[in-house]
Amino acid sequence: MPFPLAVLVSGSGSNLQSILDKIEAGAIDAEIRVVLSNKPDAYGLVRARNRNVATWSRPHTDFPSRQAFDAEMVRVLNDHGIAVGQGAVVLAGFMRMLTPEFLRAFPQAVVNIHPALLPSFPGTHGAADAADYGVRLAGCSVHFVDEIMDHGPVIIQAAVPALPDDDHKSLAARILKLEHCIYPQAVSWLAQGRLSIDGRHVRVSGAHPASLGDAAQPYLTSPGLEPGFLPQDV
Ligand code: GRF
Repeated sequence: MPFPLAVLVSGSGSNLQSILDKIEAGAIDAEIRVVLSNKPDAYGLVRARNRNVATWSRPHTDFPSRQAFDAEMVRVLNDHGIAVGQGAVVLAGFMRMLTPEFLRAFPQAVVNIHPALLPSFPGTHGAADAADYGVRLAGCSVHFVDEIMDHGPVIIQAAVPALPDDDHKSLAARILKLEHCIYPQAVSWLAQGRLSIDGRHVRVSGAHPASLGDAAQPYLTSPGLEPGFLPQDV
């Protein structure tokens, strides 16, 4: 049976699309059972419907508390077969902190992508903050989610150069291209049961050595990307 996934989005959903595309291409043995959003107009919901994936959306402002909103999401996820020891929850541009109660409902099974090399530049504007800081290397991180924002154990990171003429938009676009490689790769490991958490460290069984780009498209990912997840495959 394909590994059950749910994806939570608040916006464009390009990372959701990258995972949908890799599932369709046969690179990830998983099934997205439902896409949830706190923004009923999120374009990510359209991407899901275009692939006949079930969607659920309610403005979080409809609920009396963060706990009440999260409890409703847990109910919807359980209804779609995502539960303790069953499947995983993938945050793809979901702009809400999750409650401890939500995280306890899916232990070691909630992952997130962040557009910076954690632990640098956590928060909602990771790529822009890195550009403003003047870093020479920027990047993105996929990590397990814990109760602290952008803090849980790191699964994979990709680094890309920040160029002298970069603005927020150009740097974010260079990072996003690698997000679309490392997130499907991490989800594929998750679906294959190849990830284990040992304190702050994530072990990836059978991980490849780091992947390197070239002069035309420089990047570094660690662990390495497997065939089917490289930037030229995007
Ligand atoms: C990405 O930059 C991701 O790293 C961050 O939010 C953005 C979502 O983009 N968490 P998209 O909605 O997947 O296009």
